[in-house]
Amino acid sequence: MADKVLVTYFSATGNTRAVAQKLAKAAEADLKEIKPAKPYVGSELDYENEKSRVNVEHAADARPQMAAPIDIGAYDVVFVGYPLWFGVAPQIVRTFLESQDFTGKAIVTFATSGSSVEGANGEHLHDSAPKATWKTGRRFTPDVSVEDLDQWVKELDL
Ligand SMILES: Cc1cc2nc3c(=O)[nH]c(=O)nc-3n(C[C@H](O)[C@H](O)[C@H](O)COP(=O)(O)O)c2cc1C
Repeated sequence: MADKVLVTYFSATGNTRAVAQKLAKAAEADLKEIKPAKPYVGSELDYENEKSRVNVEHAADARPQMAAPIDIGAYDVVFVGYPLWFGVAPQIVRTFLESQDFTGKAIVTFATSGSSVEGANGEHLHDSAPKATWKTGRRFTPDVSVEDLDQWVKELDL
């Protein structure tokens, strides 16, 4: 395990937060939330309404503002967690990735979802942090155990 590990996450309804908190324990990492300047509430999250905030941001490839920057300068490995929205990471994850210099850092994604798996590996995000060394991410359910996450972290061989 590398010496300094940071777990970051965005979570609109708590599922990804639950995984992130356990992952931070498993990886003995610091934990920081990717907080939107304007939280996602109520019908803004309605993916079936093409005029909802989430749909509009997704269609526009938007970069929603963060409430506060997250400085990754002190870390060697950065986990980035998110819910799968439309099969990919919410746009604010790109805001975060593009706000920092990941040269010499490793990024590992993790995701929660209703059922989708594919976007959890993080491949679609590589263009937002092209200088990072990307490791293949995974989907987890919110009830995953710290032990299972510990096992995954060991397998990643960071
Ligand atoms: C806008 C939006 C789009 C979603 N798209 C998908 C999807 O494509 N596939 C899927 O399996 N779940 C999808 N979901 C369900 C979320 O991925 C799932 O509820 C996730 O665990 C929420 O995480 P959170 O509580 O950390 O926000 C979507 C949810 C929202 C709000």
